[in-house]
Amino acid sequence: MAVSISRLSFEHHRSALGIAETQPRISWRFAGDAEDWEQSSYDIEIRQSGDTASYSTQSAESVLVDWPAEALKSGEQATVRARAHGGDGQPSTPWSDWVSVETGLLSGDDWMGAVPIAADRETEKGRAKRPVHFRKDFSIEGEIEMARLYVTALGMYEAEINGERVGDAVLAPGWQSYNYRHVYNTYDVTDLVEQGENAIGILVGEGWFAGRMAFNDQREHYGDTVGAVALLKATLKNGTVVHLPTDTSWEASTGPVLDSEIYDGEIYDSRLESDVKGWSSPGFDSKDWLGTKELPPLRGNLSSPDSPPIRKNLEVKPQRFFKSDSGKQLVDFGQNLVGWLRLNVEGPAGTNITLHHAEVLEDGELALRTLRSAKARDTLILHGNGPQVWEPHFTFHGFRYAQVDGWPEDADLTEESLTAVVMWTDMEPTGDFKCSHGLLSKFLENVRWSMRGNFLSIPTDCPQRDERLGWTGDAHAFGPTSNFLYDTAGFWRGWHRDVWSEMQRNGSMQVPSFIPTLPPDSKVDPVAAYWGDVVVGNPWNLYRAFGDERVLREQLDQARAWIDTGLPRKDDGLWDRTGYQYGDWLDPKAPPDDAGAATTHPYLVADAYLVEMTRVLSEMARTLGEKDLVDEYTAQHEKLRGEFQKSWMADGKMANRTQTAYALGLEFNLYTNETQRAAAAQTLRDIIADNDYLVGTGFAGTPALGPALERIGAVEDFYAMLLETRVPSWLYQVDMNGTTTWERWDSMLANGSVNPGSMTSFNHYAFGSVADWVHGVVGGLRPGEPGWRVVRVAPVPGGGITSADTRFVSQYGENRVQWQVDGDRFSMEVRVPPNAVAEVTVPGGEVRKVGSGVHEFSGKIGEKKEQDEEEDEG
Ligand code: BGC
Repeated sequence: MAVSISRLSFEHHRSALGIAETQPRISWRFAGDAEDWEQSSYDIEIRQSGDTASYSTQSAESVLVDWPAEALKSGEQATVRARAHGGDGQPSTPWSDWVSVETGLLSGDDWMGAVPIAADRETEKGRAKRPVHFRKDFSIEGEIEMARLYVTALGMYEAEINGERVGDAVLAPGWQSYNYRHVYNTYDVTDLVEQGENAIGILVGEGWFAGRMAFNDQREHYGDTVGAVALLKATLKNGTVVHLPTDTSWEASTGPVLDSEIYDGEIYDSRLESDVKGWSSPGFDSKDWLGTKELPPLRGNLSSPDSPPIRKNLEVKPQRFFKSDSGKQLVDFGQNLVGWLRLNVEGPAGTNITLHHAEVLEDGELALRTLRSAKARDTLILHGNGPQVWEPHFTFHGFRYAQVDGWPEDADLTEESLTAVVMWTDMEPTGDFKCSHGLLSKFLENVRWSMRGNFLSIPTDCPQRDERLGWTGDAHAFGPTSNFLYDTAGFWRGWHRDVWSEMQRNGSMQVPSFIPTLPPDSKVDPVAAYWGDVVVGNPWNLYRAFGDERVLREQLDQARAWIDTGLPRKDDGLWDRTGYQYGDWLDPKAPPDDAGAATTHPYLVADAYLVEMTRVLSEMARTLGEKDLVDEYTAQHEKLRGEFQKSWMADGKMANRTQTAYALGLEFNLYTNETQRAAAAQTLRDIIADNDYLVGTGFAGTPALGPALERIGAVEDFYAMLLETRVPSWLYQVDMNGTTTWERWDSMLANGSVNPGSMTSFNHYAFGSVADWVHGVVGGLRPGEPGWRVVRVAPVPGGGITSADTRFVSQYGENRVQWQVDGDRFSMEVRVPPNAVAEVTVPGGEVRKVGSGVHEFSGKIGEKKEQDEEEDEG
């Protein structure tokens, strides 16, 4: 009967170094299988400037409890531990580990005069920018107590101190709407700075800031010059604080990186390495270096990050080397992934090795057409002075295959020569699913891979072609699944800050189709349903996943502004019909060259979502105790539902006899007449049966399909669709050897050729939205109340699946549901973390409430009442 605290955390930070919150809320997560364990009180100890203060509170709350002490000052550190006490006769946890929390620089003055600097040279206008090295020597007279580096770039940076890389973030500071929010990172560099002579270096590439992004060859969206802003702050044992801000005393130079572009890749001439050898160490001879100049102040507020950084989280080795039909050297990594290749090679000086990256092969060659204008190639020119290990700096590619041109003739090309380095925003993994159905389990793995590849600082549509943009509709579709697989709370919080800034631009309150918007000052066009609705749907989904009312309140403004102001309407309150709508984007009948030509009317989709978003807004208001708003949006919802019926239904029949129209109608409760509702339920089942259980929905309809069928008691129909392998279906892509989820139902055609449409990515997460249903219905694990304090366990076995194992680590601890079916016998083990409870339904049985611990259940499928809790292991 053990209970302990496995993690203590602050706000939604994975690591609380350099945060903005001066009174960060504290959460602790439990481990152990203590039975029915509920917290009755807790103690917190906070060590701050040598003093320890204790706080005891009678409360059952263990998530996001208020900071009990004085607010932290700028750059101030505290360490915190907690212990929790159980109720009557229940044990207390031991003290948690001490965990440190430290604020970043809270005001402009704290930057001690650090200004953005650029190299004193002409910038390359209208073309790729050569990355720039910035450096500065400094000396420290005295023993170092602690040192911090606060740094960001007008571009992407990598920092070094005394020849050592600072931290392990890549592509930092990530992408924000830089005109409003410019993230800086905080690093603990105590171990890198030394008493005596030191040097600091920052290498900056163009990144999202100044590089080519979005359409029509546009670049330099936020500025045309790469630069850096940093402050090194060293506190000495004698109390002296040394500040080293970026200013024009820094020096600059170009080096071996000739070009490093997001879409097009990097060109690196290692023959130039000797020029910058030792550049970030003291004693470097910088006489040929350039001076620096001060740039105008950053437009965006220097802000500490909400999200963890992008890191290199995994490495993948080549699975197969082979020659293409035309004789090219190809490599297969066996997994479509996002990152770059590390090379380990030796060859004559000047040898030019070029790598091309692609997701799939077509006609025995790399399929490069789908990358559109993105070159996705890296070039390494060898120095000829022995073995070298190299990887690019400020780019990323979405690929499974690579073509290697120019490999030195005398060098072997083996497993040791190439490594795929995989990167994504380093969120904590929280959810897992496996079941007896091999293809379905593999599909869920593919969903995870597509999330990794597209949660790269912002939620992107795809990672490979000339887009990689924060498309709002895709984010809306995939939000719930993402919240299960990883702890996304900080990631989304940051992105929604940018969403809100962008909406307020020009006071329009319209939601751009992708965020950050490019060009940053462009007019919102089109103003689109479902895409724009992300500002209502996602905050609500986040609240359900993390239960944070403060964040919900923070995001209520954007949700209201969209519904009240941004969303263009006709007199009846429904969508104005004059603009373009993406609608049920990429429904399977949409032709290759017209992704928006769906079988369901785009304004039917738009209006259905408007009704639902209005209802969700009333729920948000209810949660936040905003009574007037509840009344307002409830009345609006009622009215809009009536208008929807008038516009899109005749005798309960939808204007389009499609899966999407009926799924939305049923899931969003657009029927008020029970007879019509029952008829609609039958119609949806008929449409699906007539379509031979193949999918008929696009981006907007897909997330509603499973839930609608569940709502009408037709889970078996959805199993039939889910486990289908003919096209269009989810498992078709698995059957076709996909290792990520595809943009189109048929990104690859059944004959192995690539869909001729230009919208053909093999790594788009939107259709992976179905995973949310799989976790909740097949796995049987869902939040019963926002934030998972109450867990709903209610698997609905079907489709011949005989077992499933689903795990979710909530803010309370580990939840797990493992079930088996043997003939008509059902058995299940449920793990509930301390301080949480579960409402468990065995198939056909009634709801049982259980507390924390491990519980066994069994019953006969299809029979009521045999449900029986056989044993409790505490
Ligand atoms: C993106 C989509 C996006 C869509 C909107 C595409 O180019 O890849 O996923 O939602 O445009 O129309």
